[in-house]
Amino acid sequence: MNVAAYLKKKSKQIEKALDSILSAKGAVPQSLAHAMRYAIFAGGKRVRPILVLAACEAVGGDEKKVLPAACAIELIHNYSLVHDDLPCMDDDDLRRGKPTCHVKFGEATALLAGDALLTLAFEVMSGTKLEAVKLLAQAVGGSGMVGGQQVDIDFQGKNKDLPTVQYINTHKTGDLIAVSFRLGAYLGGGTSSQTKPIYEAGKCAGLLFQIVDDILDKEGYASVIGMHEAKIQAQRLRERAKNHLKPLGHKAVALSNIIDFIADRDY
Ligand code: IPE
Ligand code: IPE
Ligand code: MG
Ligand code: MG
Repeated sequence: MNVAAYLKKKSKQIEKALDSILSAKGAVPQSLAHAMRYAIFAGGKRVRPILVLAACEAVGGDEKKVLPAACAIELIHNYSLVHDDLPCMDDDDLRRGKPTCHVKFGEATALLAGDALLTLAFEVMSGTKLEAVKLLAQAVGGSGMVGGQQVDIDFQGKNKDLPTVQYINTHKTGDLIAVSFRLGAYLGGGTSSQTKPIYEAGKCAGLLFQIVDDILDKEGYASVIGMHEAKIQAQRLRERAKNHLKPLGHKAVALSNIIDFIADRDY
């Protein structure tokens, strides 16, 4: 299978669905609607929603059942980046080579666009299953992604020991990726013997994603344990993630190939 072609095709499908979700919003003030669209359509890789679709495929599920959750996860991912770039957080002027949302629309509107994207994500999720809404909320709240962001901020400019870096990576990035695997399998109708190993693979892939990010940025994990060791860890996580998928057989080939894409990516 050609993973690049798969990613391209699925990414188009996700963008179409995101477009209709954002277009369906009734009376959103124009300035807010512009900032929300700007944040969403800026050239992201769409890795998380594609993982949702691939995890659904791995359990032989119907894609239509997971598309809302896939979009909700991408809405949350982009809200988190808009807030992450704010002057009070990482204070970044560029994201994906373009001015960040607050540079383009001002801090207050960027903050509110993030709020609106997060809220919209849960409106979209309300059409799925209550258990899925809960799993997603847990993954992105104070004990998940937001908690990871907090510890990252707490240790900004300070020396981090290994457990701290592991906590940050597991939560700020890992949890949203892991729940993408989990919800794709769960909402795709997977049995628990399918959903469990897929979620385990997702936890490995989530950590892998952030370690690769740290290797590319020469920071975080890569600076605490060293570049060489970070690359060894990444290799181990790639293997572990893919091993979890073995019992699922051929249906998990796309998911497994995306794990390779995450491990091998250079952007
Ligand atoms: C970047 O995520 C931020 C992290 C959580 C490390 P991605 O690399 O998936 O960002 P886009 O959406 O493709 O730009
Ligand atoms: C972003 O992490 C993680 C979230 C937004 C949850 P970083 O701050 O390390 O990522 P970049 O470098 O801005 O993409
Ligand atoms: Mg940050
Ligand atoms: Mg940042």
